[in-house]
Amino acid sequence: MYVLSCPHLPEGAQTPVGSEVYRGLTARPKMLSPWLFYDARGSDLFEQITELPEYYPTRTERSILSAHADQIVAAAAGCERLTMIELGAGTATKTGLLLKAAVRLQDEVTYHAIDVSRTALDEAKRRIEAELEGVAVVPRVGDYTEGLGRVEADGQRRMVLYIGSSIGNFEPEDALQLLRDIRRELKAGEKLLLGVDMIKNCEVLLRAYDDAAGVTAAFNKNVLARINRELGANFNLDLFRHRALWNEERSRIEMHLESRIAQRVVVPALELEVKLQRGETIHTENSYKFRDEGVIEMLERADFCLSDHWTDNCDWFGVYLATAW
Ligand code: AVI
Repeated sequence: MYVLSCPHLPEGAQTPVGSEVYRGLTARPKMLSPWLFYDARGSDLFEQITELPEYYPTRTERSILSAHADQIVAAAAGCERLTMIELGAGTATKTGLLLKAAVRLQDEVTYHAIDVSRTALDEAKRRIEAELEGVAVVPRVGDYTEGLGRVEADGQRRMVLYIGSSIGNFEPEDALQLLRDIRRELKAGEKLLLGVDMIKNCEVLLRAYDDAAGVTAAFNKNVLARINRELGANFNLDLFRHRALWNEERSRIEMHLESRIAQRVVVPALELEVKLQRGETIHTENSYKFRDEGVIEMLERADFCLSDHWTDNCDWFGVYLATAW
């Protein structure tokens, strides 16, 4: 995320949200970065998505962690004591399975939860410390890799958790850079646990991003509602259609907002008028899906080597334990 600093741009374009919206809506084709989804309403809608019958990633990853938590934690710890650090922890609902396993193995564990949302972290700390004896939660609001560098582990081995297939929302070169940034903060022998959504039947994929109840559509359209709320725009959400499509060549689900008619929208804070043709789309998200070989190659290019790997019965989701070398 960077802010456009250009003296001739309106003041509203000099904040992170304003800058991103200005850049995206003046680009061709139009696009909006997926981090814009996650205001309070968007985060709430995302929590609802994770419970939808069509959205298999969350429950599939949970089933893998639930079946293999002891093995995962033991493989990561080796003969040392572990400290866990989660990037993008959110409310940390799946992490409890790994924390419980760590308590079984070493009686006590420190869990550093890093996220941009203070509210999510406060809720995670309250819930985990109430439910799990032996776990000390250290919340840290901020940027992932910057936060990671500040984590003190008192000589314990660190395991960084980056689960939930959030890596899939980055462009491949940015995903690689993120893994390299994580690697740079770790010592040789320390661990990364990466959760990744795998390529599968495209009907299953499409249903997960276009559910019958319309929650994903509301999540997608919330980005326009957010621009209305924060930048005074006049997007009429009914004049946009939620579109999810599978891009086979690039192995990614794409989400778009398609204009139902030719229309003009104004964004006063950006002193911007946006023209949309009928059928024109605003590209709002990519969610890359992976094959085993692709994950291993990406890890190796970031100077990790694969230590172990767990999946579900259908190979829909993968949990990869990698070692920094
Ligand atoms: C957060 N991320 C891993 C989700 C995904 O599946 O790419 C975001 C999401 N977008 C639509 N549904 C869920």
